[in-house]
Amino acid sequence: MPNNLNVPPYKIKMVEPINLIPKEERFSALKEAGYNLFALKSDQVFIDLLTDSGTNAMSDNQWAGIMTGDESYAGSRNFYNLEATVKDIFDYEFTVPTHQGRGAERVLFPLLIKEGNYVISNMHFDTTKAHVELAGGNTKNILIKDALKVDEYHPFKGNFDIKSLKKFIKDKGPENISMIIITITCNSAGGQPVSMQNISKVSKIAKDNNLLVIMDAARFAENAFFIKSRESGYSEKTIKEIVKEMFSYVDIFTMSAKKDAIVNIGGLIGIKSDQKLYNKIRSRVVPLEGFPTYGGLAGRDMEAVARGLKEGIRLSYLKHRVNQINLLGEKLKNNKIPIQYPPGGHAVFIDAKKLLPHIPYNQFPAQALANELYKEGGIRGVEIGSLLLGRDPKTKKQLKSPFEFLRLTIPRRVYTDSHLNYVAESLIKIKDRTEEIKGLQFTYEPEILRHFTARFKPID
Ligand code: F0G
Repeated sequence: MPNNLNVPPYKIKMVEPINLIPKEERFSALKEAGYNLFALKSDQVFIDLLTDSGTNAMSDNQWAGIMTGDESYAGSRNFYNLEATVKDIFDYEFTVPTHQGRGAERVLFPLLIKEGNYVISNMHFDTTKAHVELAGGNTKNILIKDALKVDEYHPFKGNFDIKSLKKFIKDKGPENISMIIITITCNSAGGQPVSMQNISKVSKIAKDNNLLVIMDAARFAENAFFIKSRESGYSEKTIKEIVKEMFSYVDIFTMSAKKDAIVNIGGLIGIKSDQKLYNKIRSRVVPLEGFPTYGGLAGRDMEAVARGLKEGIRLSYLKHRVNQINLLGEKLKNNKIPIQYPPGGHAVFIDAKKLLPHIPYNQFPAQALANELYKEGGIRGVEIGSLLLGRDPKTKKQLKSPFEFLRLTIPRRVYTDSHLNYVAESLIKIKDRTEEIKGLQFTYEPEILRHFTARFKPID
């Protein structure tokens, strides 16, 4: 099938009405929300591209699984099915469910991080960074420079810069580094994949220096699909074979199941074989999340995760998903809207720095663009830039992010290509009036995770 005929490998059995409220109402809703789209009510949003996390449409098979939920406090059959599924797909011996990805981080990280040590990643996601810091660690991102060349194609912009990684470990000393986190795909860099070669190199460097490597595996299936389609030697391998190889290079993973397991809630810790570590995690999960055979999830939710993991690695599904996002990205690019190129596996990231060069980083160009897109089409995207990054914890100075992105995040199996065409057309309309868009200043700035609750006003 040609790529421009992107026919979904599913049909729609249930629908949820959505409604575009009139323009004047969108203007007043935005003002009332303090120019922060997180403060909108979802009924005020027409097309919601805030996140792909937990916003997915489950299949009939997953919903059927929900009805087989075994809500026993201990030893739920759904847990054993989940454990067997993880063994089957990842080849990992032990599974601990958590309520979502950050739950997994909270349980695991204090067991692995030494106070004052570094944790290295290609690029930490914000909750991952927060949990490293809460555990007493310092974060260091070592992403390839090509990721910063937003409009230039590179097949694996999520890769670690191997030379800088080696240098950092040598300079700081391996004893001052607690672990390396490989984020697949690399969300903060634009949903960009990490190549198998890069994963294996990072793993080798870690072994040579006696360092632990873990996978932040939220979008593992999309990463595997990119390896299959872009890396030489993998085109004939199945997604499952690729996933198994990716996870063979690391020892532990944390996973937000709200992404590639195509559910609305759930998280996992996977441990390849270390029984001692598993025992420690099991003890810690009890006071934080729940008994180890449910870990913050209902039995029915674990069943949905187990079934979703299997659906999430189907080639026909992944092909359609990635292609849907690619079509949106290409349409924007062809209409001279700058994006992180190529588009990511879960989102198109628009380069607001380029589109709105008159708005400096400390007036949050991507947030200003997000607001304009909501006014134009009732579409909700999210800022991934200096607003999200925040202030230096010591000097309190606003940090300057390497990217000012507006992320248009595509939920799985939710919107059709015609929804996404509407999104593209709305952005194209804005393109001709970008110089009218104003930067933002705070009217209320909370101390931590400020992007969720901050309030702004446009700067005249
Ligand atoms: N790691 C990555 C790479 C993520 O993208 C996320 C969540 C998490 C960990 C935390 O997982 O939300 O289940 O607790 N990302 C969402 C997003 C929120 O919108 O990108 P969680």
